[in-house]
Amino acid sequence: MQILGLDIGGSGIKGAIVDVATGVLVTPRHRIPTPNPATPEAVVETAVQLVQHFAWRGPIGCGFPAVIKGGIIHTAANVSPRWIGVNGRQMLEQAIGAPVAVLNDADAAGLAEMRLGAGRDRDGVVLMLTVGTGIGTALFVNGVLVPNTELGHIEIRGKDAESRASDSARERKGLSYQAWAPRFDEYLQRISALLWPDLIIVGGGASKAFEKFAPLLAVHVEVLPAQLRNEAGIIGAALYAHEQLPIPA
Ligand code: BGC
Repeated sequence: MQILGLDIGGSGIKGAIVDVATGVLVTPRHRIPTPNPATPEAVVETAVQLVQHFAWRGPIGCGFPAVIKGGIIHTAANVSPRWIGVNGRQMLEQAIGAPVAVLNDADAAGLAEMRLGAGRDRDGVVLMLTVGTGIGTALFVNGVLVPNTELGHIEIRGKDAESRASDSARERKGLSYQAWAPRFDEYLQRISALLWPDLIIVGGGASKAFEKFAPLLAVHVEVLPAQLRNEAGIIGAALYAHEQLPIPA
């Protein structure tokens, strides 16, 4: 069974066809920069381009960087505020002409890591972080997702945490991963004091540099790099669609 996984992010819209039994990408990943401004029309148009790139006609799973309930987008931290209140699922389905399951991008990445990556067979409270344009969070309790957590937006030093500790904040401030590590560590310590997770998995763009900053973290929680790297969001979106959509076996 194959499903097209799409991962709509603040900087790039990525996709690949995924074998949902194994979580393996059956095509290379294709990426198109997220349009700026990332309005509903512009983003949907880019999603359509990705679908055409793969000449795909089947079901689709799509991660999107916002709170999503029943297909409706409720927040817009790194996309146009015009998304708020829009039925993203319906808009994509109408433009593409195929069934689409939509979920938060970090939840998608977390699902993939829990099933097939760093969180496999891990019980207890696991927090997946996607550290990229923003900080996305996915919370799992004994493998079950608590959807739509927005813990990248806790307040630290009077600021939205992701504006200090995301990978794009690091780039904006011209910091090396070593120089950024204390900010990220402060975030991990705060979030750990609130949630007491058993494991934190770090994914997103920053996961590529895990070896550079991990030795500098003082937080007293096990912290592992995501294993599926930048593919986690694509794979998780496809796995989610497989579970959600009425797809003939
Ligand atoms: C958004 C989240 C998203 C995260 C990662 C945050 O700014 O509020 O919904 O998961 O960025 O893209």
